[in-house]
Amino acid sequence: MSRINNVTFRRIVDIVYKESGIVLENKQELVEARLISLCRKQGYESPEAFLKLLKKDRTGSLLVELLNQVSTNVTHFFREKAHFDFVIRTLMPKLEVKKKTEGSNRVRFWSAACSSGEEPYSLAMAIHHYRAGNAEWDLKILATDISTQALQKARQGLYSRQEVKKTPPHLYKRYFSLIDNHDDPVYKISDEIKQMIAFRRLNLLKEDYPFSGLFDLIMCRNVMIYFDTQTKEALMKRFRKYLHPGGILIIGHTESLTGYEKYFKRVGIGIYEK
Ligand SMILES: C[S@@+](CC[C@H](N)C(=O)[O-])C[C@H]1O[C@@H](n2cnc3c(N)ncnc32)[C@H](O)[C@@H]1O
Repeated sequence: MSRINNVTFRRIVDIVYKESGIVLENKQELVEARLISLCRKQGYESPEAFLKLLKKDRTGSLLVELLNQVSTNVTHFFREKAHFDFVIRTLMPKLEVKKKTEGSNRVRFWSAACSSGEEPYSLAMAIHHYRAGNAEWDLKILATDISTQALQKARQGLYSRQEVKKTPPHLYKRYFSLIDNHDDPVYKISDEIKQMIAFRRLNLLKEDYPFSGLFDLIMCRNVMIYFDTQTKEALMKRFRKYLHPGGILIIGHTESLTGYEKYFKRVGIGIYEK
């Protein structure tokens, strides 16, 4: 299949930015490779032919396909492990005191760009192990992403040996079971961990989030690197709005909230408090 021309590239960049906030300027090679791959997989004649169909499509399904294709879903279990240590060593003990004082047992966490599930499952495993399955808390994790493809894998909860390797051994032994031991073994996350999480499609760019309550923790790691300052600032405001006072926002190690100090207080690397 031939290379995409500049007009096609520009149109894709504009559509993707408008619909998801993802900035693809200066990424012509990436856009080209991913569009060509989409056309091959789905049988479109060319990127230009795909664009024509996209324009006419009233169902929104081709836009979903495009966003699945251009979003980068790289992730792994216990990525930036210090964040999970912070949740267990600092946030959970604090929340135990706070919730007791408030006479509440409701704890809500949000993994706001969860990709294929490794981040919310890591969170759930760490918490479940820490709480030793104590059922007194009404603790739930909402896990959202724009990519339906990534969410499909997340909901399945099936991972290869390579993928589960980064899980600390005591958690790996307890929460994964080997379900297929052929050439490429498949590991399944346990139901008790799965039950802690609700996976939903949510576009971070969209104005209204359909939440009724506030969160104690929002993890939004390694996604703001794809956004421009305007989108980042809008997100900061919204995250602040949806956090309890004293609630925690965790972003990626390489991301920064410089310039947005008015919204959050920095309490660690990538860790901010409302
Ligand atoms: C690199 S992954 C990060 C996954 C995980 N948070 C981590 O740190 O390992 C970035 C994720 O952001 C998602 N994403 C990109 N734009 C988004 C948007 N506008 N709304 C929701 N999710 C988005 C992508 O689909 C992708 O799964």
